[in-house]
Amino acid sequence: MKNKSEFLSFALDLAKKAGEIQLSFFGNISSLKKKSTSIDLLTNADIESEKFIISEIKKNYPTHSILSEESHEINNNSEYTWIVDPLDGTTNFTHNLPIFAVSIALKKNNHILCGVVFNPAADKCFYAEKDEGAFLNNKKIFPTSTSKLGDCLLATGFPYLHDDRYNLSFDLFKEFYDRTRGLRRLGAAALDLCFVAMGRFDGFYEFNLHPWDIAAGALIAHEAGALVTDWNGEKMPHDGSRILCANKSIHGKMIDVLNQKKYSIFY
Ligand code: IPD
Ligand code: CA
Ligand code: CA
Repeated sequence: MKNKSEFLSFALDLAKKAGEIQLSFFGNISSLKKKSTSIDLLTNADIESEKFIISEIKKNYPTHSILSEESHEINNNSEYTWIVDPLDGTTNFTHNLPIFAVSIALKKNNHILCGVVFNPAADKCFYAEKDEGAFLNNKKIFPTSTSKLGDCLLATGFPYLHDDRYNLSFDLFKEFYDRTRGLRRLGAAALDLCFVAMGRFDGFYEFNLHPWDIAAGALIAHEAGALVTDWNGEKMPHDGSRILCANKSIHGKMIDVLNQKKYSIFY
């Protein structure tokens, strides 16, 4: 990207510094709490990363709104909202698995302007700006062009809440597992989306995510050239309720599977 916007430069700097904070706690967690369920974890790395990000946004853009996972929304009635996951992949982080990231996006009205996902343990920084393509460590990235489901490697995830849809989500997992080369559950949705953007995975789907899990990664995947929609091909819901992200050739084939009547409980 020739000229990065002021907002993207700011988000990149923020993500890099938040990543350093995450690394300073990696393998060295001193506080572990439970949130919505006993498996929904919160570490001091989530808290410290978020404290830093929010204070920098407030300092630099005091009139903007902020939606960040671990804090109450700061609604300044601004057309700009920063959407932040201070640590995506907290369960991995807690178990010393280096698959975690910080995710920062800026939304203007209903459009994501820019997004950064930084995986500090691998020093991989993904970013994109609307209409400017997507990048990994300054190199342009593209999804795969695999067109047969049988040649694809997909990714998904499961929510912390084990509600009615939980059991059926394993039927869906099995169905994709049977039709593809395999299905991975890495535990960091922001990175799953970036891995579709860079062609590691051919597609990714998940339900019950939140805006902070997908805001940056969805823009990165879209700008790389992947299709990002809901499970029946409609405009992606920014709330993260049912996201599908895939290369253009298999997107429709994944929709056919996701759209079967037996999965209507997800709609
Ligand atoms: C989680 C991860 C995971 C997804 C969960 C998310 P967190 O985010 O993205 O991959 O399956 O639904 O909540 O809690 O680690 O920020
Ligand atoms: Ca998350
Ligand atoms: Ca998080």
